[in-house]
Amino acid sequence: MLSESSAAVVTATLPAVQANGEAITGRFYQRMFAAHPELLNIFNRSNQATGTQKAALAGAVVAYAEHLTGGSAVPWGPILDRIAHKHVSLGITATQYTIVGRHLMAAVAEVLGEAVTPEVAAAWDEVYWLLACELVAREARLYTEAGVPENGSVWREWRVTEKTAETPDVVSFTLVPADGGPVPGFTAGQYTSVAVDLDGGRGQQIRQYSLSGRPGADHWRITVKRVRGTGGAPDGMVSGFLHERIAVGETLRLSPPFGEVSALGGGEPLLLVSAGIGLTPAMSALAHLAATEPERPVTLVHADRSGAAHALRHELPALQERLPNLSVRLWYEDAAGAELAGIKAEIAEGLVDPALVPLAPGAYVHLCGPVPFMTLVRGGLLGRGVLAERIAYEVFGPGMLR
Ligand SMILES: Cc1cc2nc3c(=O)[nH]c(=O)nc-3n(C[C@H](O)[C@H](O)[C@H](O)COP(=O)(O)OP(=O)(O)OC[C@H]3O[C@@H](n4cnc5c(N)ncnc54)[C@H](O)[C@@H]3O)c2cc1C
Ligand code: HEM
Repeated sequence: MLSESSAAVVTATLPAVQANGEAITGRFYQRMFAAHPELLNIFNRSNQATGTQKAALAGAVVAYAEHLTGGSAVPWGPILDRIAHKHVSLGITATQYTIVGRHLMAAVAEVLGEAVTPEVAAAWDEVYWLLACELVAREARLYTEAGVPENGSVWREWRVTEKTAETPDVVSFTLVPADGGPVPGFTAGQYTSVAVDLDGGRGQQIRQYSLSGRPGADHWRITVKRVRGTGGAPDGMVSGFLHERIAVGETLRLSPPFGEVSALGGGEPLLLVSAGIGLTPAMSALAHLAATEPERPVTLVHADRSGAAHALRHELPALQERLPNLSVRLWYEDAAGAELAGIKAEIAEGLVDPALVPLAPGAYVHLCGPVPFMTLVRGGLLGRGVLAERIAYEVFGPGMLR
C-alpha cells in the first residue's frame, strides 16, 4: 500500500509524468547505459532501436502508480508474473533494481525539473520500490524453484546434437547439457532464454525460445524462425546468428525453463491455436499429451503462409495416430498444392476465421502467434462466449494483449 501522503502526491503528479513518459524513458536508458554499459548485454538492442520495449519498464511503473492510487482496475497478478518470468530468464538480480531505480528517478527529476520537489521524489520512489519489491520477491521464488543458487548464474552450457532444417526459414536445434547432467523438466508452453556472443564485437544478446519438444525427454529442442529485415531494417540478430553460425557440436548458453503460460490447461478439452512460428508451444503440448493423456480431446488450429512454410507439420501424422481425439484444422494463405502428407485435417485457404474455429464446451484455449492474429482470434472466441480466463496466450515479444 502506498502511504496516504505519497498517494496524494502521486495522484497530483501522475498526469505530468504520463505526459512526459517518452522523454523520461529516453533519458532513463541513456543515463543507465552510460553509467552501466554492461547492461547493453542484457537488454535487447533491437527493441531499443525500434522502441518496442523501451516504454515497457517505465510504462509499467506509471501503470502501477495508477493502480495504487485507485485509477485503474487492471489485475496485476498476471502482469507481475509475466515480467518476473521474463526477468529471471535473463538472470536479473535484486541489485540491478537499485541501478534501475536510481536512473529512473534521476530521469524523472531531469525531465520534470523543479516540479520534482523532495516530497514528489520520495512519493515516486515509494511507488517504484513497492513494485520492485513485488517483483524481487516473485523472482526470488522462481530462482529457488529452478534451483538457481543465491547469487548464482542462470546460464548453463548446452551442446547442439542435431540441427534440422524444417522449412527454408526455420531450423530446430536439439540440445543436451554439455556437463552431461540432468535435463530439467518443463511445462509445455515454457521457454528458455538463449544467450549468444555476436561476432564483430557486438557483444552478448539474449532471446527467448519456446521449448518445442516433449517435456521429460532426454534433450531439449528449440525451433527458430529466421527473422528477415524488411523495408531497410536489419535482419534479426540472434535468429540469424543461430541459423548461420551454430552448428552441431557447438554450445549455447541457456537459462532454465521459465514462462507462466501453460499450453496444457488441466484436463478439459484443449484448443491450441497458432500461427507461423507460434506453433512451438503447441507442438510441445501435443508431444506431451501423446505420452501422458492420449485420450484428451484436442483441437489444433494452425495458420501459415503455405504448407511448405508450416514447420514441424511432418510430426502431425504420428501425433494423430497416438492422439485419437486430436482434430486438426489448417488455414493456409496459399493452399495451392498444399500436400497434406498423411495429415487428417480440414484445410482452408485464406486467413483464420475465428467464427469457424471448432470450440468444445469448457475448452482451455492456448493462443500463440503474431499479436494481430491473437487479438482477432481472442476477440472472436470472447464473442462466442469463451471466458477471458480460459484463454491463455503467449506473445513472442514484449507486452500483453489489450
Ligand atoms: C516467450 C517467447 C517465446 C518465443 N519463442 C520463439 C520460438 O519458439 N521460435 C522463434 O523463432 N522465436 C521465438 N520467440 C521470438 C524470439 O525471442 C526473437 O524475438 C526472434 O528470434 C527475433 O530475434 P532476433 O534477434 O533474430 O531479431 P531482432 O534483432 O531482435 O530483431 C527484431 C526485429 O526488429 C527489427 N529491427 C532491429 N533493429 C532495427 C532498427 N534499427 N530499425 C528498424 N528495425 C529494426 C528487425 O528487422 C526485426 O524485424 C519467442 C519470444 C518470446 C518472448
Ligand atoms: C520495478 C522495476 C521494473 C519494472 C516495472 C520492469 C518492467 C519490465 C517489463 C514490463 C518488461 C517487458 C516484459 C515483457 O512483456 O516481455 C521488462 C523486460 C525486461 N526488463 Fe524489466 N522491469 C523492472 C526492472 C528491471 C531491472 C532491474 C532490470 C535489469 C537491469 C530489467 C531488465 C529487463 C530486461 C532486459 C527486459 C527484457 C526486454 C529487453 O530485453 O529489452 N528490468 N521489464
